[in-house]
Formats: sequence, structure tokens, C-alpha cells
Amino acid sequence: MDRRRFLRTLISSTAGLALGAAALRSAPAFANDPAQFAEGVQAHPWLLGWRSVTSETLGPATVDLQGRLPTGLAGTLYRNGPAWSERNGLRYDHWFDGDGMVHGWHFNGDGTLSHRARMVATPKFTREQKAGRFLYPATGTSIPNAQAVRNNDDANVANTSVIGINGRLFALCESGSAFEVHPDTLDTLGPVTWRPDLAALPFSAHPLVDRDGSLWNFGSISLLGGAGLLVWHIGKDGQLRSANVIQTPERGYLHAFAMTDQHLVFVLAPFDFNAAGGSFFERMQFAPQRPARIAVVAKDAPDKAQWFEAPFAAIYHFGDAYQRGDGIVLRAVRRDNMDEARSPMKEAMAGDGAHASNGRTSLVELHLDMRRGKAHWQDTGISTIEFPLFDPRTAGNRGARLYAPTVEGPATAPYFNAVAAFDVDRGRRQVWRYGTDILAEEHVFVPRPGSRDADDGWLVGTLLDPVNARSGIAVLDARHVQDGPVVQAWLPYAVPLGFHGTFVARS
Ligand SMILES: [Fe+2]
Repeated sequence: MDRRRFLRTLISSTAGLALGAAALRSAPAFANDPAQFAEGVQAHPWLLGWRSVTSETLGPATVDLQGRLPTGLAGTLYRNGPAWSERNGLRYDHWFDGDGMVHGWHFNGDGTLSHRARMVATPKFTREQKAGRFLYPATGTSIPNAQAVRNNDDANVANTSVIGINGRLFALCESGSAFEVHPDTLDTLGPVTWRPDLAALPFSAHPLVDRDGSLWNFGSISLLGGAGLLVWHIGKDGQLRSANVIQTPERGYLHAFAMTDQHLVFVLAPFDFNAAGGSFFERMQFAPQRPARIAVVAKDAPDKAQWFEAPFAAIYHFGDAYQRGDGIVLRAVRRDNMDEARSPMKEAMAGDGAHASNGRTSLVELHLDMRRGKAHWQDTGISTIEFPLFDPRTAGNRGARLYAPTVEGPATAPYFNAVAAFDVDRGRRQVWRYGTDILAEEHVFVPRPGSRDADDGWLVGTLLDPVNARSGIAVLDARHVQDGPVVQAWLPYAVPLGFHGTFVARS
């Protein structure tokens, strides 16, 4: 498809090319009250994980590492998450709304660790900072008198993840462009346009790195009110290799995807829009009565898909996927409560610590029979996990060991307080419990330099200790998770919980 026709197809399938277009027609609903949230934090200190930042930068703070830094572990854990969630008496309702803050946790190699963080200076954040109030539509909260947006990047919050490509760093969000950030200073360099006709199109927050170092990603046109999937392929040099649009049979939500050596797999959860106005997540209703639509895209033909159907599943995050005979097996974290899936930790955002819930999640396998065109889900018996990651060096014909935050024993907060390694096929699990009061986030797998065997490396994860109002970081040996951190550090301050990160080893 030539470029012009490509764009025309895309635009004709969308309603206005703007995530916030729906919100502009909405009647303002009540957003949360910052004073009520502040009261909530007094009663439930773990709500610090959802407290808005009030400064564009944090740190740099340098602290001593407790324990011994493993030989070879040097570099930076970058993380991103919604951080600025209150302005002028209005607090966002939805966890996904806050403007993104990128964190750099630097292992300095001399026994110290330093942390700094900086808000991503998107056009939205910069203009709202100046105005002192929210000006633009949000994904999950109705903003009174929101200004019109010309394209996705006018409302882009760049708040979900961060990835390194060829020495460059990008803050990602599912609703618009990647924003380039300086890897040392964390200064924002601006939105990335991979090709002029693709400006401001969604570049999602969960790209996957292939064995050749190139990167696959998607952009969901459903977020813009249309139906269709944009498939991105970026070379390891950071240049666009291809961008293709796959027409989808109906509107479906997807936040991430899975990949085998030969295929990309996209699982779309059908949804409808409420007639009543509101933000995207206020109007969006999952349609569990309709089947999930699954697209399998061959990497050597990324402009077409083979479609499958399986019972509906609301999923944010996928684990690994692998080829088995004529089929594909993939792992995913299914969310079993539709309201919770639409607005995770909603009560926490409102400051209602007494009623907050993290919902119920199940680790499920999707089995795709490529020859017969059939798909089915299989339960693994593993529950209460999120943010699963694995060593991508795992061979392409077997399941990977999954690493994920989980809950073990009593927990003060309705959140994860432990990290576990799951050998799903053998039904084995290793777990490290941080404690009753600690909140545990995603743990990134970092390969040991020079190693080749899958799972030879470390887990680097962030923590919140609300009792002492401090955030921290832990490093565990991935093969001995039950032994706990080999090294750990605590900052003199607390930062809001985030979503995803990446470790960039010092070269
Ligand atoms: Fe995510």
C-alpha cells in the first residue's frame, strides 16, 4: 500500500484522529477531590503510591547500597508512570491519566545508587503547568471545559513505559507518539515522528525486542474511535523498517501483545461505547458476551493477519509466547472483574483506602491451532500477579520462566507485596515476600553480561515503603528469587507507583 493510500485508509476508519474527541462532547462529571485524597493518605499511608507529585524534578539523591552489588551489574533502571494527577482542586479519577514522570535509578558501580526523576515535558504538561489547571481531555476523567485537541499528541501524557533504542530513550503511552528523553538528564527532546505521514499516530507502550535487536510495536486505532491495528517495525538502528495497517473485524481494546520467533499475536477485547458522554474509559464498556478477536501476524508479512476467536478476556499484559508443533502458546494475565479492569485501583485514586481492591487476576494460556484455525484458553492455576516479564533469550519452542509481582501472606495495601518466579509447566514457584507493609512493582529481568543461558541474570524491581515514606529498589538473583535481594537501597523520599521500566546496561 502506498503511503498516501495508507493514511487515507487510516483516517477514514477513525473518528477525528483524536483520543479526546469524545470527551469534548461530554457533560462534565465529578472528578476526585484532592482534599479527600489527602485525608485518605493520613488514614492509609500506602495511598502514597497514588499521591501526585508537585515538583517537575526529583533528586538527584545518592544513597548507599545495602548488600553487595553483583559483579557486572552497572547501568540504569529507567521507569515511567503517571505522576502528576492533581491541579487546581481537581484530581484525576483514573490511574492512567496522570502526566508521566521518567525515573533513572543509576547503579554507579562504586557501591552507590543515585536516583533522579523528571516530568516528561509533553505539550500537554507544559501548557497545563503554565496555566495551573488541567486544560486537555484525559483518558479516564472528564475535564470541565477541556480544550480542543488537534491530534493525539496534544493530549499525550507519555506515562506508561520507557524503552532504549540504539542509545536513545523513549517515554511511551498507548495514545500517541513516543517522546524522546535524554538518557542522562531526562530532559524531553520531543515527540518522535518515524515517517512524516505517520506523525502523532499511536505507538504503544509495550514494544517487543526481536532476536535481531529490531523492535515490534502496534498502535491501536480503536483508541481513536475507529477499528484497525497499526503494526510498527523499527530497526535496531532506530529507523523505521515498516508500518502497516491491519483492518480489524470490530473495535477491540488491547494494551500489549505477544511474540514468537515468527509471529506477532494481538488479542483484542471487544468493547462498546456508552451513548452518554465522558472520557474514553468512562464511555468504554467491555463486551464479555462477544468473543476475543485474535490476530496472528507473520513477521515476514506484517500487512495481513490470520484471525481466531476465543472466549472474551480482559488483559493488559502478556508474558511469553512460543511455537509448539502447528500451534502457538502464549501466556497472559486475565483480569476477572470488568469494572476493575476498566479502572484499576479506582478507589485508591479517590483516597478511599478502606474499599480499594486490586481485583482478581489469573495467569492463563492461549492455545492457537494454526492448522485448524481454533483457539482456546487454559487456566494455569496461578493467580494474583501482574506485570509478568521473562528472559527473552529463552528458546523459541518452550515456555519461559515468568517473573512477576504477587501477593504472599498478609498485606496492608491491596497491592503486591512479593515477587515470584513461575515455572508454569512444572508447576513450580519461588517467591520472595518483602513484607506486610511493602508495595512491590514490576521486576525487570537483566541478563548477566557475558552469559548465554536463559534466566542467568538478575531481577531489578522497585518498592514503596509507606511506613517510612520512602521508595526503594531491590536486585535479586533470578535463579534464587527465594533468597531475597542481594542488594537493596532506599531513597529519602517516596515516589508514586509507576508501571513499566527497562534496564540499560552501561556499555
Ligand atoms: Fe502496561
